Amino acid sequence: MQNNQDLGLQDLALQDKQLIKNFSYINGSWHSSESQIVVTNPANGNEVAHISNAGVVETELAVKAAKDALKMWSAKSANERASLLRNWFNLMMQHQDDLGRILTVEQGKPLAEAKGEIAYGAAFIEWFAEEGKRVYGDVIPGPSGDKRIIVIKQPVGVVASITPWNFPNAMIARKAAAALAAGCTFVVRPATQTPLSALAMAELAERAGIPAGVFNVVVGDDSRGMGKVLTQHPDVAKFTFTGSTPVGKTLISQCASTVKKVSMELGGNAPFVVFDDADIDAAVQGAMVSKYRNAGQTCVCTNRIFVQKGVLEQFTEKFTAAVAALSIGDGLADGVSIGPMISSDAVNDVDKLVADSLAAGATLVLGGKRDSAGDNFYQPTILTGVTNDMPIACNEIFGPVSPIIAFDNEAEVIALANDTEYGLAAYFYSRDIGRIWRVAEGLEYGMVGINEGIISNAAAPFGGVKQSGNGREGSKYGLDDYLEIKYLCMGGLDK
Ligand code: SIN
Repeated sequence: MQNNQDLGLQDLALQDKQLIKNFSYINGSWHSSESQIVVTNPANGNEVAHISNAGVVETELAVKAAKDALKMWSAKSANERASLLRNWFNLMMQHQDDLGRILTVEQGKPLAEAKGEIAYGAAFIEWFAEEGKRVYGDVIPGPSGDKRIIVIKQPVGVVASITPWNFPNAMIARKAAAALAAGCTFVVRPATQTPLSALAMAELAERAGIPAGVFNVVVGDDSRGMGKVLTQHPDVAKFTFTGSTPVGKTLISQCASTVKKVSMELGGNAPFVVFDDADIDAAVQGAMVSKYRNAGQTCVCTNRIFVQKGVLEQFTEKFTAAVAALSIGDGLADGVSIGPMISSDAVNDVDKLVADSLAAGATLVLGGKRDSAGDNFYQPTILTGVTNDMPIACNEIFGPVSPIIAFDNEAEVIALANDTEYGLAAYFYSRDIGRIWRVAEGLEYGMVGINEGIISNAAAPFGGVKQSGNGREGSKYGLDDYLEIKYLCMGGLDK
């Protein structure tokens, strides 16, 4: 196997080069395979790492390791698990800079944003380390004097997961931290575009003292074969996925054969609504962060901007000036605020959505084409005159394009915002308290940002309704997906 240090990673100036790993991490050891997958930097197409290509056999080994470790891990006290998770959190934060650089080089987001993702991911580990201590049961009055009803909560068992390339650290941390805190063991197959962050997390989990078999990472390009093991293996009790709705549907159906508990964080089509009474500067700021974070490649990114006609001109002018000031380039370069998209195919998809919407009558205000920075760069783009039935409004864009749709009144915009099969995140700006309650309650979404463009954090329940998925990640509710409720009926008490 080629030495990864020869592939351009030396330019990263890592303080701890041991964070770069080439192998899957199974049962506490690093597994090599004959073939390799190549990781490339989306900013320039350079090869940055060669990783052993694991497959079905290694995935089965990882499930077995997780199964074998389950008894030992679930028997530990919540305090013991919390202390190991706390070590892991500390190590992630100590290596935030290195982990951020690794993330930028494989995923593309600007370094400051990548370091922000490391802190975001680590925050879930810290949060669940604490929350795991509060898995309370219940005592329920019985239906007759001789009975007592007691409820206890127990770990579901082995958890398998598939995680996406857009948050190579945080989407693993958000799932693994909750699973491990609940007493479950964990196997993850990270996206093949971004395995380095996952493997660096495994290295730090080992240093944190998390026992062999509790946290396993299998990297490989046999998505179908590995996916089948993770969704159909009888020893996997729960499956969790973050990714697109079509893939999520397939995975849910595969989980049916063994009736697994599932949680799904799927696609979105987030409306961002600006009412006449909004603070327009705040709305522009909120639209910027909710749209252009990660070059528009998040499930909660604003997908449609609805602006009430009275402030349409003012909002569009200020928003266009802010978007035009974004600086596009390699995420490792100073001052860059928007990096590449993940691949040239992703750029083609966005470009087609823009072209089709222009053909359907939208107007181009800014951008609208590939950027000269490289094959994977797309210019931050604004379209006006968009209607809710145009391709750019009906599809999850997953790129740096803002379609602006004008509206007249509150009832109309609630109906337009809800007119989608998705229901993940929504945002709106208003200063009228009556309207704030009406709109917040009327939006059919799992999360609503009110005068706020960044809603994700470890203390909040992240998740969607409709075809955006089920289950919640983060917050006190995030543990529920990794716990089973067991009811104990104690009888014969009056004898
Ligand atoms: C996602 O895009 O799937 C996650 C975004 C977030 O956690 O804010």
